[in-house]
Amino acid sequence: MQFRPALLSANDFPDIQVKSNAAIKADGTADRKLPQGATKALLVDRGRTALFLIAQTLKNKTVWAPEYHCPAMIEPLYLAGVDVKFYPIDEHFHVDIKFVNHHVKTNEALLGVRFFGSLCNLSEVANVCRKNHILFIEDLAHAGLTDSMIGDIAITSLTKFYPDIVAAELILGEQNDFNEVLDDAYAKLPSRLMSKFRYKLLSIFAKLGLTQLQNKGTYTNTDVMHKLSKKQVEQSISTMSGAEIRDKRRANFVSIAEVVDAQSWARVACPLEYNMVPYVVPVYVDSEERFKAFRLAGIQALRWEEIATQINNTDVLDMRGRLIQLPCHQDLTEQQLSLIKQTIIGQQN
Ligand SMILES: Cc1ncc(COP(=O)(O)O)c(C=O)c1O
Repeated sequence: MQFRPALLSANDFPDIQVKSNAAIKADGTADRKLPQGATKALLVDRGRTALFLIAQTLKNKTVWAPEYHCPAMIEPLYLAGVDVKFYPIDEHFHVDIKFVNHHVKTNEALLGVRFFGSLCNLSEVANVCRKNHILFIEDLAHAGLTDSMIGDIAITSLTKFYPDIVAAELILGEQNDFNEVLDDAYAKLPSRLMSKFRYKLLSIFAKLGLTQLQNKGTYTNTDVMHKLSKKQVEQSISTMSGAEIRDKRRANFVSIAEVVDAQSWARVACPLEYNMVPYVVPVYVDSEERFKAFRLAGIQALRWEEIATQINNTDVLDMRGRLIQLPCHQDLTEQQLSLIKQTIIGQQN
């Protein structure tokens, strides 16, 4: 699968002052609770590893994914050998239910994403999937602190919520025919240490021409995927309570959203729902150029620019340049929050 090239390079901008993710460890107590509906979390390095493991158990099946996406959620599906097809979403990231009813067939799978932390209309999607016997894979990469899951199976990306950690979860639900197979596939993943050692050895052999690295991905390196122990993850997730992270992120979101909504050139892309723990503040801007102002100010705003080349929906292609993600994580200092707001206010209408 091919992805469109990025629109801009990070090298064209000054050093980052405000990071997109939390990085500072604070003192706190371990209190990570699995969402309601989960039976077990299998700890892995990345959300893409979890998606790869799920897709491997679905080999040759069709998995439907949203037209607007980050390549890291699509590539692992493709690399695992499933047939990836795309469904449309609207500007609020709501799935086109009519389309799903017409096109997604029994025994296929659908990847539903809680874009930027929002539930969107995934409850409706879950109902359609249940009714039509479609496997619902819930992507909680942006909603890792949600209190309930609605998919048959889910993935998180803890990296996006906890400081200084590369970790994710493959979450098994209460009822899913693949739970046992997934458990087995997980058991075969190497540990972090073993994976490092194996990769070093493989790289040396590959240099000598004795073997080839297996990885075919750009965003997903299948040669280094590994599992993690609870101990390896616990230290980072115990640094601040989930409630504190939620309150800080919500307060930052509200504070930034107020300033965004006062501008004629920008609007917040989805509301802060009840109990939602936001990943970022998604903002539609009026031109691609607005993004640069944040990067020039040292703010690590993000955009999904690398959409699959087979997507030709002009609305989606427009979102590549005009939907930006501003940080609202728990580490933001008053000064950093102020820099974000001033960078919005300082731009001409
Ligand atoms: C919606 C979504 N799903 C999955 C992933 C993959 O998560 P990870 O970066 O932990 O591999 C990402 C991000 O990169 C993402 O944005």
